[in-house]
Formats: sequence, C-alpha cells, structure tokens
Amino acid sequence: MKIIIDGEIKDMPALWFQDDRIRFIDQRKLPYSLEFFDAITVEEAAYAIRNMVVRGAPAIGAAGAYGMALASITGMDINEAHQMLGATRPTAHDLFYAIDRLRDIIVKGEDPITASEEYARDIIERCRKIGENGAHLIPDGGNVLTHCNAGALATVDHGTALAPMRAAHNQGKDFFVYVDETRPRIQGRLTAWELTQENIPHRIIPDNAAGYFMKKGDVDIVITGADRITRNGDAANKIGTYEKAVLAKENGIPFYIAAPASTFDLKLPHGDGIEIEFRDEKEVTEFQGYPLFGSGEKALNPAFDVTPVEYIKGFITEYGVFAPENLEDFFSKFE
Ligand code: MRU
Repeated sequence: MKIIIDGEIKDMPALWFQDDRIRFIDQRKLPYSLEFFDAITVEEAAYAIRNMVVRGAPAIGAAGAYGMALASITGMDINEAHQMLGATRPTAHDLFYAIDRLRDIIVKGEDPITASEEYARDIIERCRKIGENGAHLIPDGGNVLTHCNAGALATVDHGTALAPMRAAHNQGKDFFVYVDETRPRIQGRLTAWELTQENIPHRIIPDNAAGYFMKKGDVDIVITGADRITRNGDAANKIGTYEKAVLAKENGIPFYIAAPASTFDLKLPHGDGIEIEFRDEKEVTEFQGYPLFGSGEKALNPAFDVTPVEYIKGFITEYGVFAPENLEDFFSKFE
C-alpha cells in the first residue's frame, strides 16, 4: 500500500515476515503515528491478533500463517500453536483457513516460513484481482459508501472493499467515498487514512448518518468486506453492516460484499451458525481510556453481525463478480 512518510511515497504491506519475526504496522496507533509491533513468539502473534494490532479477516489469516511459522522456529508444539492462534478471534474464517493450511504443510515436512510467505503473497494477489474485477462497478462521478476498514491494512495489501476503489481511481475514475466511522473501534479512521494516502476524495460520517445520505439519493453503491460468508451467501461483517444493507435495499441501492475464497466457510449452510465475537465492554464505555458514560454503566459489544443474502446484490471475488444465485459457480473454482 502507498504510505506517504515525510512527503516521500513508500510501498508497504500491513504485515510481513523478516529476521524470524512478524512485523506489523500497529493499527491501534494509526492515523496518529506509524509504529511497528514485532512478534517473535506465538504468544506475541496471538496477542497482536486478539488486541487488534492487526485486524481484518485476510490480514488476520496471514498473521495466523506467520504465527504457525513462528511455532516451528521457536520449537512450540504445532497443535498447541494452532490452538493458541485459533482462540484469539472466532468470527473471521480466514484465520482458521490459514492455520489449518499451515498445520497440514508443516505435518507434510514442508518449510513453514516459505509456506507462510506464499500464503501472504497469494492473498495479496487475490485482493488485487478483486480490485480488477470490481472496478467497473464504481460509477464515474458517483458516490460509494463503505463500512469498517476493508482496505490494505485489513488484507496485507490492496484490500477487499477498497480494492475496486483503488483500481477505479488508478483507471482515472472520479468518485467520492462516504466512510462510516464504525463505532466502537473507529476503523473508519483507517479507511480514511488509506484513502488520504491514495488521494481519493472522501468524508467520514457518523455511523447513524448512512440512512440520511442514502435517502437523499447521495449513495450509488455500498461495498463492504466480510469476515465469514456461508454457503448460501449470508455474510458476517463488522457490527452495523446489516443495518446498512437493509437501508440500501430500502433505498434501491446495490449492496456488494468483496471477499476472497478464504473468507467463505462452505461447511456452514447459513449465517445462523456463525459465532459472533463479543469484545470487552470498555471498547464501548471508554475511548482511549476516557470514560464516555456515568461510572458503573455496563455495555454490550458484539463485534460483528450477519447480513442475510437477500440484501446482497453480488460478491466481488478474485474469480469475478457473482450474484447470490450463481455462488455455486464461484465455489466450483476452488472447492
Ligand atoms: O474487528 P475487525 O476490525 O477485524 O473487523 C474487520 C471487518 O469487519 C472487515 O470488514 C472484514 O474483516 C473484511 S476485511 C477485508
């Protein structure tokens, strides 16, 4: 991804493997400062995933793959490492897809560092293709709305929902992005930061403002990422996605999910089976350590919700754009 540091343009992924460690851009610190977090043990990799140093389904998957490589470097039992990494965040399918894959590779005696680096390269390439395949959906002169951060930070590079926007921008299209702030972790700050680096026009809007802009006719298309998509096309994504999809349908706006094959959980028939992560209530009651409510107030903090497939116009994938009724064609490419 493009990052402008002191006026100089750098190209950097969200995480990579170097000198027997995982190097993460520390996403907790953006956009205030660009800092790095290094993991040299599986425990530190698990910490980085659980505490959202790294976040976003495909990026968590890559972190899991690299974490499995750390297990073999540090001599940790591979099943223990698998268990530790898998216990960090339950909803994103990519994490389990990646650690299962790495465990199989290690059991076969192949080199886990090479395999984890290949995993990350592969996901970058899939996201690049998502951009290529989805760029035509972005209307020249139009307005896009997105929720959470499904950009390069969430996927190692390019993004899922942001990949078609990056590609359309590179094709010279002129468009504007409404960036949902995304309470409580404010991942909108990451999306806004990425769009600023790319010079793509945008504004951050409060989460509860999306309906206002949709009803006025100011939104032409909604694109989000996903954390887990079931066989029928129900899609779990950041809390608040469901209500955006319902509002989009009510206002006649196409709602697309952009995701690679690794996000699809073909063993689950529909979204009711998806485990939804609940996070610490302090993420709701405090902001960066400052209390937002009266002392003793309690909160509920579901991190994801499930959008039923009937609200989804299509899936932008590395194999093309698929309407829900054509999902089996997509599955046949990799199942
Ligand atoms: O809790 P997060 O920040 O990990 O949630 C991320 C999302 O919900 C993203 O939209 C999703 O992982 C897709 S990322 C390409």
